[in-house]
Amino acid sequence: MTKKVLITDTILRDAHQSQAATRMRLDEMLPACDMLDKVGYYSLECWGGATFDACLRFLNEDPWDRLRQLRKALPNTKLQMLLRGQNLLGYKHYADDVVDMFVKKSIDNGIDIIRIFDALNDLRNIERSVKACKQYNGIAECAISYTKSPVHTTEYFVDLAAKMVDMGADTICIKDMANLLLPYDAFELVSRLKARISVPVHLHTHNTTGTGDMTYLKAIEAGVDIVDTALSPLGNGTSQPATEPLVASLMGTPYDTGLDLELLNRISKHFSKVAKRLADDGILDPKVLKVDTNTLIYQVPGGMLSNLINQLKQAGKEEMLPEVLAEVPRVREDFGYPPLVTPTSQIVGTQAVFNVISGERYKMVTKESKGLLRGEYGRLPGQVNSEVRRKCIGDAEIITCRPADALEPEYDKYRSQIKEYMEQEEDVLSYALFPQVAMNFFKQRQAARYGLNTEFSNKEKGVQPV
Ligand code: CO
Repeated sequence: MTKKVLITDTILRDAHQSQAATRMRLDEMLPACDMLDKVGYYSLECWGGATFDACLRFLNEDPWDRLRQLRKALPNTKLQMLLRGQNLLGYKHYADDVVDMFVKKSIDNGIDIIRIFDALNDLRNIERSVKACKQYNGIAECAISYTKSPVHTTEYFVDLAAKMVDMGADTICIKDMANLLLPYDAFELVSRLKARISVPVHLHTHNTTGTGDMTYLKAIEAGVDIVDTALSPLGNGTSQPATEPLVASLMGTPYDTGLDLELLNRISKHFSKVAKRLADDGILDPKVLKVDTNTLIYQVPGGMLSNLINQLKQAGKEEMLPEVLAEVPRVREDFGYPPLVTPTSQIVGTQAVFNVISGERYKMVTKESKGLLRGEYGRLPGQVNSEVRRKCIGDAEIITCRPADALEPEYDKYRSQIKEYMEQEEDVLSYALFPQVAMNFFKQRQAARYGLNTEFSNKEKGVQPV
């Protein structure tokens, strides 16, 4: 039996988000598009995630214009984006009218496939965007945020996937953003998913721990349909496993991808120049390519570990790292085992640091920890420690409904706030997601029209790992 494996290349999104703080520019993408369009990929991931924010904040690019230009340059390849359910690309819940419009405009401007996920795997946080995606004829890929904990059993993930299919998912993605999925666990999970659901299964991992290629190979043997790779100049390390070695490994086997290695090699020559530019600018640090054994040992994602170290440094308590690393799983258990991804990785990590440096657990509680315990982010996967909850939020009411149900329609409000700068309907969405950053961008754009000062004014701020 032959079963061709399909490839999504992340070179235009996650590859440079993971290795180079999402700083690849459109003018560095366009020259390769003609070749990329001839490869025969299942899809190219090129938008969403942090690309939108980085365009506005750092690159003085309109993300919508980027999407339209990529669409034009890649007429034969499906374009894919990453979307965090009711948060869209931001860090709070948006009202349903904003979610609907964002999904509609993403598809109108060229997106074919939307990968939709929620950090807590609370299906109520993805239901509206899935519905909108289907309504506007997009392909809805629902993603499981993969993690490890006593409640996150194979059974749990398979049930979750089945519910996503019932919700209308066209494909299911196992999203292993923290690179925790090991090869034999992948074999088991993919086998069980394939036995239970009939839609294609797509696997996304990183190679931070050096296990990514092995995980893909075992998942392929278990029948996975699509995998995410990144062309070698920005592949491996904190990014996806590289495309070319996998294509070569499967050649002549029943899983042959059918992709042309020589063509891939020609494209990689172009992206090698881009990677060199990113390294020359100090954005791409070669250490992102090293195997991160800390993630293997502590199951703490790479980005989270560096945050913990930074927080301890600021407090002058670097020597307390071992205590903090021991406290992280305890806080996570108290909070009902949220997956450690943005934003829950920061919430759990910061709380663990506070618990250790203040000398008493939950003596200092962050606003975000309280919000998580109150249910503001959605339903926590496991049982919350009720004593801890009482100590943190007292008798405050717990939110049990879909968090976005509490939000009034807000699209028109955003629209009226940017009236004088608006050049396209999409500007309202840029503003809703990143108000200050988008406003700076609009002002700059307007000034440039009148030949005024065109120096770009959005300042470098911290980079959000997603
Ligand atoms: Co990723």
